[in-house]
Amino acid sequence: MPTALIVLAAGKGTRMESDLPKVLHEVGQAPLYAHAVASARDLEPERIVLIVGHGADAVQASAGALGIEATFALQAEQLGTAHAVAQARASLDGFDGDAIVLYGDTPFIRPETLERMLAARAAGHAVVVLGFQPDDPARYGRLVMDGDRLARIVEFKDATEAERAIGLCNSGVVAADAQTLFNLVDAVGNDNASGEYYLTDIVQIANARGLTATVVTCDPSETMGIDTRAKLVEAEAVFQARARAEALDNGVTMLAPETVFFAQDTHVGRDVVVEQNIVFGPGVTVETGARIRAFSHLEGCHVSSGAVIGPYARLRPGAEIGNDARIGNFVEVKASEIGEGAKVNHLSYIGDATVGERSNIGAGTVTCNYDGVFKHRTTIGRGVFIGSDTMLVAPVTIGDDAMTASGSVITEDVPVGGLALGRARQVNKPGLARKLFDRLRAEKDAKKKG
Ligand code: UD1
Repeated sequence: MPTALIVLAAGKGTRMESDLPKVLHEVGQAPLYAHAVASARDLEPERIVLIVGHGADAVQASAGALGIEATFALQAEQLGTAHAVAQARASLDGFDGDAIVLYGDTPFIRPETLERMLAARAAGHAVVVLGFQPDDPARYGRLVMDGDRLARIVEFKDATEAERAIGLCNSGVVAADAQTLFNLVDAVGNDNASGEYYLTDIVQIANARGLTATVVTCDPSETMGIDTRAKLVEAEAVFQARARAEALDNGVTMLAPETVFFAQDTHVGRDVVVEQNIVFGPGVTVETGARIRAFSHLEGCHVSSGAVIGPYARLRPGAEIGNDARIGNFVEVKASEIGEGAKVNHLSYIGDATVGERSNIGAGTVTCNYDGVFKHRTTIGRGVFIGSDTMLVAPVTIGDDAMTASGSVITEDVPVGGLALGRARQVNKPGLARKLFDRLRAEKDAKKKG
């Protein structure tokens, strides 16, 4: 049965006190709505509809940048959750399957939970609602059960004292056949305490039509919605705790997991060792058996098996580190391929470059990739030795098995097997240092006395 996602992302999030629409605030360096979309990734949704309103253009641009293939339905005025869902109708025209409604500000629903909801749908329930039992039911909508069946959902504002005493709450996540969902939503009115079109009303309407509704429950940690900065901080901690636990379950060795910060899309393979105080930005993959040493910062990069990164290394977008390569302390690599077994061990900047297999880049080497206007590439062949403190002024190519002398400024290509010296010849003046010292010390003494 094909699945479609409807993600409600039109709200402003007034309590965030922000110019940024609520769903663009980030957890694990990914916007909140992207977490909601990712929670349904395993279901391989045929269509994804983002209901956008506040900051619609920004949300749309963000989804484009993240490669999320969605259609966007504008909800110009936020008249309630049922009204929001109704906006998805045109996007799901001709779609025959189940729709799942998610909130863009609720990032932690587990894929297994959605699978259980679809299983309840497959078992014949027309509407499946995700419920949970929080310690404090606060102002959540309450699920009014009739045996195993869900009779209706009552919003806190509209609930009686007896209904408010119910501990089973509505998460907001709903699954139903898409066309049935739109038919039910059509019948929702706004005669209630908020004057809003409540999606929750579809349950009662379904029952009145002889359809069945039921509840699947999940842990309250999954249903956390983010509507304040304080909640965002809490959510980040929850995300990191989950990501660390998953990494450990997947066979990653971590010396101090509480000091390692993951992004939503970080992939770390089995038997990778992640030392203390590591930050993974977006787009990082670390292959089996690599080691990320303490105090390193990685983003948009790929680290192959057996490579050792850090301590104190910075891998920026486009860094492609080959098998068994070494990136050492205070080394920055950007948009560069470092070949198998190559070493860049100390205090270097390698940007817009290719470093061939087994080449050794001496301490303090800089690829001078920027002329103030354009970026240029540096190509270093295999088995090359770049002497310490070499400035490689790009565009420049160093042939296989070549060498550069320490302290060289290399402005011309170096042929295969060649040695390039690009520095002034040394001149020694015997005895001159001693003379200079004597003169300067005499000056100092004269100043002290006078
Ligand atoms: C909703 C549920 C409530 C549930 C709670 C869980 C309804 C009527 N109530 O209440 O039963 O316990 O969620 O958090 O559904 N949104 C839009 N457009 C709109 C209205 C909302 O995109 O017109 C988005 C909001 O930005 C938000 C989400 O939908 O992300 C939920 O809306 P909100 O108004 O916060 O619902 P609650 O009052 O929390």
